[in-house]
Amino acid sequence: MKRRLVVSSGAGISAESGMMTYRDAGGLWDNYPVMEVASDEGFARNPALIHEFYSNMRRKMTDGVHPNAAHRGLVELEKDFDVRIITQNVDDLHERAGSSHVLHLHGELMKVRSMVRPDRIYQLPSTELTTPDATDPLTTTLATRDPYGDPVRPHIVFFGEAVPNFEPAARLVEEADVLVVIGTSLVVYPAAGLIQYARRGCEVYYIDPNPAAVPSWVHVIAEKATTGVAHLIETLRK
Ligand code: OAD
Repeated sequence: MKRRLVVSSGAGISAESGMMTYRDAGGLWDNYPVMEVASDEGFARNPALIHEFYSNMRRKMTDGVHPNAAHRGLVELEKDFDVRIITQNVDDLHERAGSSHVLHLHGELMKVRSMVRPDRIYQLPSTELTTPDATDPLTTTLATRDPYGDPVRPHIVFFGEAVPNFEPAARLVEEADVLVVIGTSLVVYPAAGLIQYARRGCEVYYIDPNPAAVPSWVHVIAEKATTGVAHLIETLRK
């Protein structure tokens, strides 16, 4: 049986693909007021702005963006390990690289869900949705309706909302033989607390060129994701 390797990735793993991180200098939250564009209160106040920002504008930012060597390295590790990926990222670069198991903690940019029945989730572009005033199939607005005639919202976890995938993520970390944290400032909870679920004896690595403070039992690889994952693979093969 293969040993279980769990990855917890953040915005840094997609940085070398050209995706902006949130809190680095010039990051997304330097340019946009986070509580207006990514919180439950902001959504209640101005849902049109959130459709425009979190789904439409950010969806377009992923146009022409491709997985990088770090995403691909994690796919390569599947030859030797049972790899499970937990990501805070809303992009789909892990899936596009070919990773078999990806759990999104903060939602997915390329999905919307019914405002009436949250279990009705639609992958974009979708022929099931109608948006009378949009010419681009990736664009959703307040007027977008699902096949039941109900409005939709971005399938994104806003600040102030519960993180429904946290429990399954914590269970994955508890079963890990190896835990690899990549490209996250470890600021946003509950995601930042996942590391605490690693059991005794689990090897824990943290790849980040500007790592946050972590307990001494964590092996820090202070490098960018692409070279850091290459070094990790070398280390795990020894
Ligand atoms: P942050 O922007 O907070 O942190 C990005 C991390 O990536 C930092 O620690 C950087 O040092 C690191 N980094 C930068 N370039 C890198 C590279 N080339 N390789 C590896 N690491 C690199 O992003 P997250 O920690 O992912 O949530 O942010 C967590 C959550 O806050 C996001 O999921 C999002 C945001 O608000 C929601 O919106 C709900």
